[in-house]
Formats: sequence, structure tokens, C-alpha cells
Amino acid sequence: MKPGAICNLALSNRLAYSAKVATLEKIDMSKAAKRLLVTGSSGLIGSEVSLFFSSQGFSIHGIDNNQRAVFFGPAGDTRWNQKRLTTQIPGFSHHELDIRDRKEVLALIDEIKPDGIVHTAAQPSHDRAAAIPFDDFDTNAVGTLNLLEAARRTCPEAPFIHMSTNKVYGDRPNFLPLQELETRWDYADPAYAHGIPEDFSIDQSKHSLFGASKVAADVMVQEYGRYFNMPTCCLRGGCLTGPNHSGVELHGFLSFLAKCNLEDREYRVFGYKGKQVRDNIHSEDVSRFIFAFFQAPRVGEVYNLGGGKANSCSILEAFQLVEKFSGKPMRYSYQDENRIGDHICYYSDLRKMKAHYPAWDITKSLEQTVGEIVEAWNRRLEK
Ligand SMILES: NC(=O)c1ccc[n+]([C@@H]2O[C@H](COP(=O)([O-])OP(=O)(O)OC[C@H]3O[C@@H](n4cnc5c(N)ncnc54)[C@H](O)[C@@H]3O)[C@@H](O)[C@H]2O)c1
Repeated sequence: MKPGAICNLALSNRLAYSAKVATLEKIDMSKAAKRLLVTGSSGLIGSEVSLFFSSQGFSIHGIDNNQRAVFFGPAGDTRWNQKRLTTQIPGFSHHELDIRDRKEVLALIDEIKPDGIVHTAAQPSHDRAAAIPFDDFDTNAVGTLNLLEAARRTCPEAPFIHMSTNKVYGDRPNFLPLQELETRWDYADPAYAHGIPEDFSIDQSKHSLFGASKVAADVMVQEYGRYFNMPTCCLRGGCLTGPNHSGVELHGFLSFLAKCNLEDREYRVFGYKGKQVRDNIHSEDVSRFIFAFFQAPRVGEVYNLGGGKANSCSILEAFQLVEKFSGKPMRYSYQDENRIGDHICYYSDLRKMKAHYPAWDITKSLEQTVGEIVEAWNRRLEK
């Protein structure tokens, strides 16, 4: 299939999706719609989850204070995405709230009494955390505790789905035996042929301050499940991606890489010969899993959620993919020093998710996802 064909397919899918959402305008949402509270609703995952649940008839309450622009500067601004939700989701309620504000979080959840909570708000960057340790921990760990406790007091039956990260495993995956292939690293031990499973140790390794604050949140989410018998789960994300990411150098690798390519900017590769491997999952597939969990929740669960081996690529391989869609050569520089604690090779073992939710699977290939990202940046950069 030609690159353009995939882009057109992606566009028609999105139009169909928007049309589906638009038909809901005729429904009186105040009557029977279930209420979903989404934190970080203007971000990549929060916005996709909001649109997805809205298309299933939910009324959506989003919390976001555009903190991404504070963390990463104007390039991280997510107001455009907030506007998109306001126009595409009938009756969308935006709450300009900081999840660190405990009093306000307790009051808002008590007022909404949501039927489900999807928690995606975070300081999401491994590298940024060291410069802003208080903001990082207060957002990722304390903000999560605020939401969990508010949920326990008001709506303990509501599924609480938390976006965790593969950085909770620290740099421990780097100590597995690896083999160097022409364009990527891979696991040499057949025990990891399917990727990293959920029982991989999170202990005694280097996490970065971000990884540590996310461990605190992850363990707390599990604890509210086990201790209070609440339907919680942690989704330990690989690379979550898609056309609606505000990719910056410090977060959102595929989105940022595609943006650099289209703007003829130099992309910086940090160590590992550019052969470091990430597994990439489209935000729609993330939303579909969250919906599956919402419909059949379990208590205190943990899943590794990424693209799996089939949707993995190294940075060098990502260059080739983006070039194929943009038709432009990738400009990049290389420095020997890797990012502290960066994974050399990481892909998620998806077998537990698929065993618990057999109807769920990855629907978007890496190629299709990259095509959509390039197409979206082309549109956003034209404006
Ligand atoms: N994108 C990835 O590759 C990836 C990988 C693994 C895990 N995750 C996790 O998934 C979640 C979502 O990631 P994303 O890529 O959508 O991030 P994102 O930065 O695109 O979205 C997060 C949103 O949360 C908002 N936010 C941040 N702090 C806030 C606060 N204190 N109060 C209210 N809103 C706040 C931001 O403004 C932003 O719009 C995060 O928990 C992240 O750690 C992401």
C-alpha cells in the first residue's frame, strides 16, 4: 500500500469517528449517561479516552490545567486539544484544576460522583523530573493519592484506571542479556521472547526521579485495590503515541521525531548506537483496553501496556518509517552518552492483558500509527 493510501485511510477513519461522536449531540446526556472523570484530559491519552467513552454514550468530565506547557514550555501546550474536545464531545465539562490541590479534588469528585475514573494527568518525562523534583513527586505520587482517596470516600465502586509506566522497572531490563542486530538491540534470552512481563522486579534498580514517583503512585493504586477492595488497575505503558501528542524532545519520542523530520530539524540520538528499542501503541488501542477494563473490572491489577514486539522499533528504524511517509530525509546527530537509566531494549509482554481480556488486541500497526502521526503534524504545522 502506498503511504498516501494509509494516510487517507486514517483520515477517513477519524472522520467516521467524529461523525459517530457528532450523532450523540441528539442524545440528552443528562438522563442516563454514565459519568467518566478523566484527569489529564487535554493530553494524548486523556483526550483519546474522553472521545472514546463519549462515543460509547458517557458524559465526560475532564480535569486539566495545561501543566504540560509549564513542564515543557509552549511546545508542550495542550490547549488546542482541550478546544478539540469542547467542539467534538457533546456536553464536555472541562475543569481547570490542579490534581495537587487536595481540597478541590475531594470536592469535585464528591460533586461529580463519577462511575469511572481514568487518571492520565502526570509529569510524564523521565529526564525533566530531576530539574523539578517537588513538582514531579507532588503531581505523580501525591496527585494520585488525592484522587484515590477522593474515590474511596465518594465512589469506591467506580473503576479507577491509572496510567503507570514501564519506568517502574527502572533500568533493570538493561541487565538482561542482549544481542546486537543490524538496526536494533534484542533480548538474547528466549525467556523474554514475548517481552517484559508484569512480575519483573521493580526493586533495586535506577528509576530516575520520575520512575520513582510513578512507582509510588503505582503501588498506591494497587494498595487501594487490595486493601480497600476497589476495582483499580495500573497500566504500565511502553511508548504511548498517536496523532494527538504534543511531542517534545523530553517526551513523546515518535511524535517529536516526526515533527523534527517535517521541520527539517536535527534530531538528537542519545547513545546505544540509535538501536534502542521501544514498543509503540496507538492511543486508540490504549482507550479500547481501558474501556474493556471498565466493563469487566478486576481488583488491584497490573498490566504492561505497549505495542508488544510486533509494534516495536529502534530509533534508526523509526527514522526509516517516518522518511517513508514524509518523503524527507531525517537529519540527526549522535552523542555517545545515553540518557540516564534509559532502556536499551524494552517491549511489553501482552499475554496477561490478552488472557484477561481476550476480545482486546492491538488494531493499529506501527506503520499505520506513524502514517497518522506524520499526517497530523503536516496539518498542525500548516496552521
Ligand atoms: N506517552 C507515553 O509515551 C507514556 C508512556 C508511559 C506512560 N505514560 C503515562 O501515561 C499518562 C498520560 O501520558 P500522555 O502522554 O498522555 O501525557 P500528556 O503530557 O500528553 O498528558 C498529560 C496531561 O496532564 C496534564 N497535567 C499534568 N499535570 C497536571 C496537574 N497537576 N493537574 C492537572 N492536569 C495536569 C497536562 O497538562 C497534560 O495535558 C501519564 O501518566 C504518563 O506518565 C505515557
